[in-house]
Amino acid sequence: MQNIVLFGPPGAGKGTQSEKIIKKYQLVHLSTGDMLRNEMKNQTELGLKAKTLIDQGLLVPDEVVIGMIKNQINQNLNAKGFIFDGFPRTVAQAEALDKMLHEFNLSIHSMISLEVPFDILKQRLLQRAKELNRTDDTEEVIEKRIQEYNTKTLPVADYYKNQNKYYPIQGVGTVEEVFERIEKVLQV
Ligand code: AP5
Ligand code: MG
Repeated sequence: MQNIVLFGPPGAGKGTQSEKIIKKYQLVHLSTGDMLRNEMKNQTELGLKAKTLIDQGLLVPDEVVIGMIKNQINQNLNAKGFIFDGFPRTVAQAEALDKMLHEFNLSIHSMISLEVPFDILKQRLLQRAKELNRTDDTEEVIEKRIQEYNTKTLPVADYYKNQNKYYPIQGVGTVEEVFERIEKVLQV
């Protein structure tokens, strides 16, 4: 079982590359962003609470996303492996993930970090704003999301560096080129 953390700032290509990885390696895709948008769409209590934070580009509380991930792991215990997209996003989340995987005798194989410069992230997300309907893809909120990433999420990279599981990947290039770089890590 290969459990992968796909890491990177907003717009780095986590969702895009997850699609390709799950197709080829039959892993279960766990995206906390997708789960939260689904709660918002269904107007659940959790979704309504999360919306006020997401629309400001702020992270939702750790216990909310940790609870969602725990549920999903429990429901997919016979999976070949998981790809975590947009989670963990704080050191507390990373510690909670290790703890819950350990309970099932599982662990993270590698953390793949997609590296993309700020100006390209912004261009990609403003372009996506024209195609999809994500309420957090406005210039002001994109900047806030990237600020949250730099202050709260970047320390998660050190967490995996300390475990020798950190693999930085150049995230600029065609979708196919980036995927080929990821595959080299998955085959290690
Ligand atoms: P989340 O949904 O995780 O959003 P994000 O991290 O901001 O990242 P995106 O989904 O915007 O980007 P991506 O890296 O998936 O890129 P994509 O493949 O789409 O989180 C949303 C919010 O939910 C957070 O702000 C927070 O409030 C909350 N949240 C979620 N998880 C949380 C957690 N764990 N803790 C606390 N709060 C949490 O690509 C972007 C665009 O670029 C697309 O249009 C794509 O087509 C294009 N593209 C992709 N690759 C390429 C390429 N190689 N070349 C050119 N274009 C490309
Ligand atoms: Mg995404």
